[in-house]
Amino acid sequence: MLLFMLIGVFLGQPVSATCPVEMSPTLAAVRYGDPFSANCSSLSDQTEGMGWESSLEGTPLTHGVTSIPLRIDAVTDWTVHAECYINLINGDQCSKILPITVYKIPDSVSVSQESPTGPLEFGQIYQMRCDIVNAAPTVNLSVNWYQGHKLIHTERLNQMTDATPGNRSSSIDLRAQKNVNGTQIWCEAELEFQPRVNLPTIRSEPHELIVLYPPFFTDPVNETLEIRAGSKVKLNCTATGNPSPGYSWDVPQSVRQTNKNQNKNGPILTLSFELPGTYKCMASNTLGTRTKYFTVTQAKRNFTTFAALVGGFVFLGVVLFVSGLFFMTPDGTFAFSKDGYLKGQPTSSGPV
Ligand SMILES: *[C@@H]1O[C@H](CO)[C@@H](O)[C@H](O)[C@H]1NC(C)=O
Ligand SMILES: *[C@@H]1O[C@H](CO)[C@@H](O)[C@H](O)[C@H]1NC(C)=O
Ligand SMILES: *[C@@H]1O[C@H](CO)[C@@H](O)[C@H](O)[C@H]1NC(C)=O
Ligand SMILES: *[C@@H]1O[C@H](CO)[C@@H](O)[C@H](O)[C@H]1NC(C)=O
Ligand SMILES: *[C@@H]1O[C@H](CO)[C@@H](O)[C@H](O)[C@H]1NC(C)=O
Repeated sequence: MLLFMLIGVFLGQPVSATCPVEMSPTLAAVRYGDPFSANCSSLSDQTEGMGWESSLEGTPLTHGVTSIPLRIDAVTDWTVHAECYINLINGDQCSKILPITVYKIPDSVSVSQESPTGPLEFGQIYQMRCDIVNAAPTVNLSVNWYQGHKLIHTERLNQMTDATPGNRSSSIDLRAQKNVNGTQIWCEAELEFQPRVNLPTIRSEPHELIVLYPPFFTDPVNETLEIRAGSKVKLNCTATGNPSPGYSWDVPQSVRQTNKNQNKNGPILTLSFELPGTYKCMASNTLGTRTKYFTVTQAKRNFTTFAALVGGFVFLGVVLFVSGLFFMTPDGTFAFSKDGYLKGQPTSSGPV
C-alpha cells in the first residue's frame, strides 16, 4: 500500500504541518451513504505528481498536475480516511489528512416514563427518559427537554467518541404537581460536530402528562358570611382535583329540618333562610379529602341590636350632661347631692 509506504517514509516527522498542499474543504462532514468530493492543490512549484489515498475510492497518483480531486460515490465507512499526497521533483513525498465526520440523524427519538410506572400521583417524583436510536456520531449529542413549549433542561451527552451509530438516552426527574396535569413533555436530539451542518432536529412525539391530585379549593380560606333577612347566600366550596372531586356538606341541625331539598352533593350550597351556624364542606376524590368551614352569621339582627345599644348609651350620656349643666353648683358639687345641700345657704323656706 502506498499509504503504508508514506507512513514509513515520514514516520516521526510532522508531515501535515509542513506539506505544501491546500485542501478544499479543510474540514468536512458527510451524511452516511451520500457522495463526497474534495480538491487538493499543491503550493509547491516543484510538484512531480499528486494523488488521494482513501479507505474508499482514492485518486491514483497523477503526474504533471498541481491539483487533484477526490470523488467518493457513497460514503459507506463510518471512519472514512482521506489523505492527499504529493511527490516532489527531488523525490520527497508528503501528505495531509482531510478530517471527515460521517453523520447519521437518529432513526427515532422518543419519550417514556421510566420509573415508577403507572399514573402520575401528586407529589411523587418520576423519571422520564428520552431515547435516541441509531445516531452518529454519538459524541457531543445534545438532548433538549421541553415541557409545555418551554425548554426545561439540556443535557450534553459527552460519552466516548464513537463514530459508529449508537443508542443514547437522557433522563430527567419530574415532580408530579397540580399544574403539570394536562401538559406535554417531549425531547429533541441535536448532533454537534465540526464543521457545523444544518441538520433537522429530531423531535419526539409529545407525551401527555396526567397527574392524579387531591382536591384544592378555589378559595382555600375558611369563610365567614353575613346573611340578611330575606336574602340568599351561596356557600362556594368549589375545588379542582383529578379525578373530579365529589362534595358533601355537614350543616347545622336547624338547616337539616328546614332545607330538606338542598343538594348536599354539589360544590355550592344556597341558603335562603336566616340559618346561622357552622357549615362544613368536604371535597374528596381517590387522592384525599379537604375540608372547609363556613361560618354564617345574621347580619341585620346583630346590627339593630348594636344600634339600639349605642343609641341608648348616647341618650343616657346627653341626659347626664344636661342635668350636670343645670344642677352643678359653683363649688362643683351637685345641688341635689347630700353634701351640696349641707354646704349651701339656709333655704328661704326657713323662718326669717
Ligand atoms: C474542486 O475543484 C473543481 C474545479 O476547480 C470545482 O468545480 C469543484 O467544485 C471543487 N470541489 C470542491 C469540493 O471544492
Ligand atoms: C438501539 O436500539 C434499537 C431499538 O431499541 C435496537 O433495535 C438496537 O439493537 C439498539 N442498538 C444498539 C447498538 O444497542
Ligand atoms: C388533567 O388533564 C387532563 C388532560 O388534559 C384533562 O382532561 C383534565 O381535565 C385535567 N384535570 C384537571 C383537574 O385539571
Ligand atoms: C465536543 O464539544 C467540545 C466542547 O464544545 C469540543 O471541544 C469538541 O471538539 C467536540 N467534539 C466533537 C467531535 O465535535
Ligand atoms: C378552617 O377551620 C378549621 C376548624 O376551625 C381549622 O382546623 C382549619 O385550620 C381552618 N383552615 C384555614 C385554612 O384557616
